[in-house]
Amino acid sequence: MRSKCIISMAGNNCTVLDPKDLQNKRTFTFDYCYWSHDGYIENDQGVFLPNGPHSRYIGQEHVFNELGRAALENAWNGYNATIFSYGQTGSGKSYLMTGYEGNKGLVPMICEELFQEIKHRQSKDGQFYVYFSMFEIYNEQVQDLLSKVRKPNGLRVREGRCGFYVECLKSVPCSNFKQLEALLDQGIRNRSVATTNWNTTSSRSHMVINIHFQQVFANQFMTKHSEINLVDLAGSERQRSAGAAPDRFNEARAINLSLTTLGNVISSLSDKAVGKRVQYIPYRNSILTRLLSNSLGGNSKTIMVTMISPADIYYDETMSTLRFAERAKNIQNRAVINESLTEQLLMDLKENNTGLRARIADLEKAGDVHIDEQEVLKKLIVDNERQLKDMQKSWQQKLEEARREWEQQYSSIIKEEKMMAELPYFLNVNEDPQLSGAVKHFIHHGITTIGRTAGLQQDIVLKGLGILDKHAVLTSHDHKVVLESINKARILINGVPVLTKHQLQHLDRVIIGSCSFYLYVGFPHERNDRDKIHKYNYEFFASELASIEGFGKVNVGMGEELKENLDPDLARIFHDFIAIMPMVAQANQISEELNKGVIFEPEVKNLTSTDAKGEGLEKEIIVKVINKLTNQVEIWPRDKFTDRKLLIEGIYQHFLENGTISNMVEQDPFWDSVEILHLGSAHVWLETLAYCIAYEDQVEAINYRGKEEAIIQIRLLPCSPSGNPLGEESVIVDPDDLLGKRMDFQMQISLCLGVKWIQGNSSRGVQIGFMMYGLPAMFYTPAVWNNANFEMDYTMCFMIQHVTADFLSYLKTHAVVLELWGLQEVCQEMETEFAHVALAGNDSVLLDLCYRNQWTSVPQDSEKCRSKLSEQLKMLEEEIENLKDANRSLKSENIKMQRELERLRNLPSSPGLVTNGGPMKSANDRSDQKSPFPSWDAEFAKALKTFYFSMIGVRARLIHLKEVRPLDEERILCLRYFANERNQLIEELGAELESCVGKLKNDIAKIIKRKKKLQIDAVSPP
Ligand SMILES: Nc1ncnc2c1ncn2[C@@H]1O[C@H](COP(=O)(O)OP(=O)(O)OP(=O)(O)O)[C@@H](O)[C@H]1O
Ligand SMILES: [Mg+2]
Repeated sequence: MRSKCIISMAGNNCTVLDPKDLQNKRTFTFDYCYWSHDGYIENDQGVFLPNGPHSRYIGQEHVFNELGRAALENAWNGYNATIFSYGQTGSGKSYLMTGYEGNKGLVPMICEELFQEIKHRQSKDGQFYVYFSMFEIYNEQVQDLLSKVRKPNGLRVREGRCGFYVECLKSVPCSNFKQLEALLDQGIRNRSVATTNWNTTSSRSHMVINIHFQQVFANQFMTKHSEINLVDLAGSERQRSAGAAPDRFNEARAINLSLTTLGNVISSLSDKAVGKRVQYIPYRNSILTRLLSNSLGGNSKTIMVTMISPADIYYDETMSTLRFAERAKNIQNRAVINESLTEQLLMDLKENNTGLRARIADLEKAGDVHIDEQEVLKKLIVDNERQLKDMQKSWQQKLEEARREWEQQYSSIIKEEKMMAELPYFLNVNEDPQLSGAVKHFIHHGITTIGRTAGLQQDIVLKGLGILDKHAVLTSHDHKVVLESINKARILINGVPVLTKHQLQHLDRVIIGSCSFYLYVGFPHERNDRDKIHKYNYEFFASELASIEGFGKVNVGMGEELKENLDPDLARIFHDFIAIMPMVAQANQISEELNKGVIFEPEVKNLTSTDAKGEGLEKEIIVKVINKLTNQVEIWPRDKFTDRKLLIEGIYQHFLENGTISNMVEQDPFWDSVEILHLGSAHVWLETLAYCIAYEDQVEAINYRGKEEAIIQIRLLPCSPSGNPLGEESVIVDPDDLLGKRMDFQMQISLCLGVKWIQGNSSRGVQIGFMMYGLPAMFYTPAVWNNANFEMDYTMCFMIQHVTADFLSYLKTHAVVLELWGLQEVCQEMETEFAHVALAGNDSVLLDLCYRNQWTSVPQDSEKCRSKLSEQLKMLEEEIENLKDANRSLKSENIKMQRELERLRNLPSSPGLVTNGGPMKSANDRSDQKSPFPSWDAEFAKALKTFYFSMIGVRARLIHLKEVRPLDEERILCLRYFANERNQLIEELGAELESCVGKLKNDIAKIIKRKKKLQIDAVSPP
């Protein structure tokens, strides 16, 4: 997608440009800044390297040399060392930590270097022990990634003498890098299986790799040990958006509590470091911060690496990530060299032995012959030696066990490689690229069954969402594999549902159930060296799915041009929509499995209809939630849906583990109390009021898809103070004439036709609401139920005692947005809060106390606010320039006219001059007399008025043109039809506009001609 790069780096400074206001930039300074966006080439091994001596590209090795080696050095010195990788999803956290293929990350590079160094330093004197463990924190549960068995509800976190630890976590001894590498692969594979089977998402889980490193120097009675924690955190964007959408679950939920708490811990520690008073550090509030409390603010030398995306569409995430990093920078840990319990014991034992030996020597020296005591002491020494040996032996034994396990695994790797070379197979595709390709399901000759086990033996056991006990059958025969779904179980191939048998083709995308994504790798003879297996990533699957379901083919095979031409905001929406589609499919599947009767539908909401200037081109993703049982409909903002989806996953997981779900409606994430629903909006432009012209129209309430939701009959009536509508004679030419004067007007709604909401279900009702100027209240019509076409007699009177320039500007540029609200059974009707507005004696609502900034929407965020203000400033400056130009031309015209007047004055006066049947007075005494010429102003005003009325029609059609959207924005046919229709409309409009302008020109030409003629007549002698 085409997006702009808004990041620049110089030295240790990182500068971010605000894409909405390029003058607005912010620079952050860190210990290191690394650029990896461009300036690289890929070598034969797939390693990214700088593309020349001047390239600013920083590869993995460089990062390791600066950060990884620092962590290693700390570990060798006996300090705890931690590296966190923090950033939004897809920003490169796993790339940094574990790396991809040739581009090894910090974990493998640190471990490899550690073992190399051990080899160097290994001696009789020094013994080095490395234990490896790897776990994941998801939804506040800890799962051991080195264990194939997933513990329901996770492993327990306990508090011991040395802090918090995970009970029963596997800690595997490793004696060389190969073993450790195999363990790392196994951990990633287990994580991949878990995310598919348990419907969890790795980008929302934290992965912690712990290397426990011990150094024992027997001769020096010296031991050191270090915990190296390498932490790949969950995507940080969830933390930012969590809580953005108002929801009754906001308080209680534990949506990535660990990440939220991490933010709070960092903030508190940072405040403390800069001298602010901090009551306590909330380590205990989440599993992650409990387990890593030492790394965060205690005994550890910690490095926090934050990843950012250079694209403009991620500006907000980038700023929030950099602010997080800035806070983390302030923290100062107090690391100490460690002595562990075991070392202490060893040291104690050794010390004890030395003491005992000295005591025996003393006894012998003193000639004291307490044989018994000497014997006891000698026995103690032997005992101690045995204990010391035991400790050594246990390490050897553990190592042996690990070796056996590793050998087993190694043989299965060899077996797998052999099968890959001979058989077709399914390769898993995960949202997290790190987990893609970790699982392979081989298709043997003959029949292979796929399903969830439940007493039934299946060849390929899948536990993902929407997988039935007996889901599908694969038949491999004659070098062909045919996939057949059982009882219409859900299978999609290349985005299309499979209803009958389907012969698989090499590189087909297969979705089994709702979230098990696989790439079919065909028989060896079908494969090709040029196969781009990596192309078929999660995004490819999701966009293929989205295109089939109707959102567009932008990302799938439609070439780069279209992608290139996407506006960044649209690109973001597209990206969000693609991302939400599979989540919606999963939520629907869970709803079905739990018999919830709720259907989720993602939609793109067009915000133009709610903008009072009709300019907002913004779109946002919403999810329509339809309850099939109650027929109730809700609209959830995207963030509310994604937050709720996590809770839905939580109850589903609980259901899978315990077989029950809570019946309490308050704990049901599918449920919400029914609320009034925004159906659509119509714009009623206020400009006519500025000329004291009444306005009546039938306006269409357009929904967020650009379709008509109802037609509303509306009137805007300028009135006298007593409430009587003003006649045509009150029409004014220059709205400025109203300045400082009183103005009264009425807003009347008399009819509402074809309300789709009620046509869909007659038990429903509607209300119309609108805002006026900067009033702090919304005005609502009374509710009307069960009737899709109804009359109403709604009038609201407004009054401003002193018209201001601001109010006039409001009238000229704004519309009243009529909002159509849908009522459903048991939901509350809306009422106008008159307590918030001032009423005049005649019950009119007073507008005098409102100010421009109240009707100009004020952005919440100060950043946004600044960019909006600078935008406004720019507009105002332009306006001033235009006004200056106009002023200049008026001045020169004025001068011309004065000269002309002067010329006329200097002409000899003619007493006999008669014009229009009356005698003409001399120019000098014209001031106190009414002009004998017809009023040019009045004539011009008349022509303008005619023009103005025709323009109202043109404008209404223009607005219609602007608001109407194609039925289906993604279908080329629809677009073509829409474009033709639009062209025709534009042509008609053009013709109408031409004729209006032509008429105005004619009228004016006539007036000028007449004026000239009269002037000539006036000056020429009779
Ligand atoms: N510095 C980089 N150079 C080249 N490619 C990169 C770099 N950083 C990330 N990538 C690529 O971007 C993609 C996403 O990266 P990665 O999986 O590391 O993101 P992540 O932050 O771990 O996301 P998630 O939160 O989903 O786990 C990967 O395909 C990765 O290869
Ligand atoms: Mg990752």
